[in-house]
This record gives sequence, structure tokens and C-alpha cells, in this order.
Amino acid sequence: MGVAEYPSISDEELPRWETWIEKTTGIVLRGRKHVLEQGIYPRLLACGISSLEEYRRLIDLGQGGGLEKAALIDQLTVKDSSFFRNESAMNAVGEYLLRLSREVEKEDYEIRVWSVGCALGQEAYSLAMVTAEYFEYTDQRWQVLGTDISPTAVIHATRGVYSDKQITGISKHRKVRFFEQAEEGWAIEPGLRQRVRFGTSNLRDLDNCPYRGQDVIFCQNVLIYFREEMVHSILDHFVERLNPGGLLVLGAGEAPDWNSSRVVRWLPGRLNAYRVC
Ligand SMILES: C[S@@+](CC[C@H](N)C(=O)[O-])C[C@H]1O[C@@H](n2cnc3c(N)ncnc32)[C@H](O)[C@@H]1O
Repeated sequence: MGVAEYPSISDEELPRWETWIEKTTGIVLRGRKHVLEQGIYPRLLACGISSLEEYRRLIDLGQGGGLEKAALIDQLTVKDSSFFRNESAMNAVGEYLLRLSREVEKEDYEIRVWSVGCALGQEAYSLAMVTAEYFEYTDQRWQVLGTDISPTAVIHATRGVYSDKQITGISKHRKVRFFEQAEEGWAIEPGLRQRVRFGTSNLRDLDNCPYRGQDVIFCQNVLIYFREEMVHSILDHFVERLNPGGLLVLGAGEAPDWNSSRVVRWLPGRLNAYRVC
């Protein structure tokens, strides 16, 4: 089946939508008009609306347009992900956590790992699997948090059920240990599932985001959609939300020009990561 053909957005309408999306989500869609069209037109059809102007009025309705805003954002986000997409970075997180666990003095300390822009949950569960493996023979308390702007992604992540195709990269050993056969595929095993919680959160609105006191923030393949000054501001916010000594892990090559007097590079050459001083 070919890609559906959508009517073209006029040159007059285009900048309005690009600006609205960047203001709302941070995502820069300039030069990607087809992504915008493929996102907007299915929503127009779903709402039974025939003109873009009318749809814009619906979105602009403040509170009343909120649900439709969420549906449109959901449609426009790229939720590509896979388990252990960057396994070496995850193993480095495991090593860091093991060291942290030996250093913390409080017996009941709970380690917190945050996967930001977690899509359908694969990144958060992969981090949880690595953490479970590193803490196999300890009674260290820990939890993983996954957040994303997309409500449908968060619902999927919370269910934690994946198809055969989605778990192809998982080793046999991990499949046996961390998954259970379910009616619709493979469900995350309940012991691991209860260590991981999910929520919607917009990186554009970090001032109102409740998550603080993190030991690790893992954010990969999300900041690539944003303008540089916004990326730098998000990273400064992350530093605020990390504990002293906490670890920030980005995707390879992301935010090359960010610098902050509050962090030092960690494992340069091996990782794109920083520790809070
Ligand atoms: C390409 S996926 C990356 C998923 C995962 N981090 C990985 O590397 O496999 C990008 C994710 O970022 C999310 N995202 C985009 N803009 C966001 C924003 N403003 N706030 C939070 N999440 C956002 C999207 O919904 C999507 O799930």
C-alpha cells in the first residue's frame, strides 16, 4: 500500500502551523511540509472538518481544544525506538549505578533513572533490565521513570506488551528472564514492570515538570528535533533535576556546543555524557 496523498498546505497556512508546533512542542518542522500534512489531515478527517482554517479555530479554543491538540501532537511525533538501541551507553549507566550504590551511605536510598522521550517504553525497560542485572545480588532499591509528550506512546509503554518484531533485538537470556508470552505478543514480566512507571511530560514545559532528584537522565534521539537554544535550555533544566554527581547521557553527537560550569564530561570518547559537579 502506498503512502496516502494529502492535499497540500498553502504557503500562507504553512508558517502558522510550523510556529504553532514549535511553540507547543519544540519540534522544528521547517522543510518537512509532508510530515505536517500527513499529521494534520487525518485529524481533520477524524474531526469531520473540511478546512484548515476551521481546524485551526478548533485547536485555538483554549481548554476546549486541548484534547484535539493532544491528538495532533500525538500524530506528529516520531515514536521510533527499539530495545537496547544504544546498549553500550546503557551498560555504562549500569556501571555508574553499581558504583553509586557502593558510595551512597543511606541504607534505604532509592536510585532513580529517567528515560526522557521514552516513546513506546523500550528505552525505559532496557534501562530497567540493565539495572536489574547490575543489582542482581544486592538489595539496592531502584526505579525507572519513562516520560514522553505522546499520550498514546505512554499508554503503550504502560501496558508493556510488544510484538515478536519489536523484541527481535533481545537476547534469548533476557527474553526468558524479562518477558512473558501474552495473547498479543510479549509482556514485560511483572517484577520488572513494577519498577518502571510512565507519565506524559512535555520538554517544552519543564518548569512545570515534577520529576527531580534523579541519579541518571537518559535522553537520546529526542533533542535532534529542537532548535539549539532550546536544547541548551533543556539540558540546563536536566542539570537542575539531577542529584549532585548525577549522570546525563545523550545520544552520540547530540548538543555538541552545550557547555555548563555545573557538569564535567564523563567517559569522553566512549559516551556523550556528563556528570553534575
Ligand atoms: C525518535 S523517538 C526516541 C525514542 C527513544 N528515546 C530512543 O532513542 O529510542 C523521539 C520521542 O521523543 C518524543 N518527543 C518529541 N517531542 C517531545 C517533547 N517536546 N517532550 C517530550 N517528548 C517529546 C516523541 O513523542 C518520541 O516518542
